Amino acid sequence: VNTNNTSMWHYWHYFAIGVEYTIGISAISVICGFILGVILAFMRLAKKIKVLRWIATAYVEFVRGTPLMVQILFVYFGLGVIVNIPAVVSGIIAVSLNSGAYVCEVIRGGILSVDKGQDEAARSLGLNSHDTMFSVILPQALKNIWPALGNEFVSLIKETSIVSIIGVSDMIYQLKIVQADTYRGVIPIVITMILYFILTFAISRILRHYEVKMAKK
Ligand code: ARG
Repeated sequence: VNTNNTSMWHYWHYFAIGVEYTIGISAISVICGFILGVILAFMRLAKKIKVLRWIATAYVEFVRGTPLMVQILFVYFGLGVIVNIPAVVSGIIAVSLNSGAYVCEVIRGGILSVDKGQDEAARSLGLNSHDTMFSVILPQALKNIWPALGNEFVSLIKETSIVSIIGVSDMIYQLKIVQADTYRGVIPIVITMILYFILTFAISRILRHYEVKMAKK
């Protein structure tokens, strides 16, 4: 409804809804992506079971080799043929599936970055491979994994802007509504940009704080 009030303050709740959706989708997706990523990483690291390794590798390569935009369209319209789910759910599913592939590589990289000597030392002290992984390798790998996961969260805040194409009221979608409503092209874009920056900057600051804390341990 155009009330002829083109003051941006008048539209603050439109932006607020966008921020809510953007943070919500990113936060849920980074958590689901993490769970999926852990599974995929262990599949990729499974030395004995070739099939698992093959499936996980194929998944990661395929997801990283196709645009998130197509994946979102595929989940939305593909799932839409079978079940009727809200666009936002499709968006979360697609972004989570996408994030899982990236997180897999983060975790795998973190584990592989731990010196081989740690594994050999633990094994020669009599630890079995399970204990070696969980009490020697993983605690060290976590130092590399944690900051990278934070980066993934920040990336997702920006990358989820693409869910607006299926009509999810994220920040970009809301931006377009405000533009249409106020006949103002640029100001809403500037506001949206600033809002994105505040979000990503705040999150990376918070993460940095914990990173420093962890490094001191
Ligand atoms: N924009 C790129 C794409 O469309 C990168 C997606 C990044 N995803 C991520 N989970 N970090 O594929």
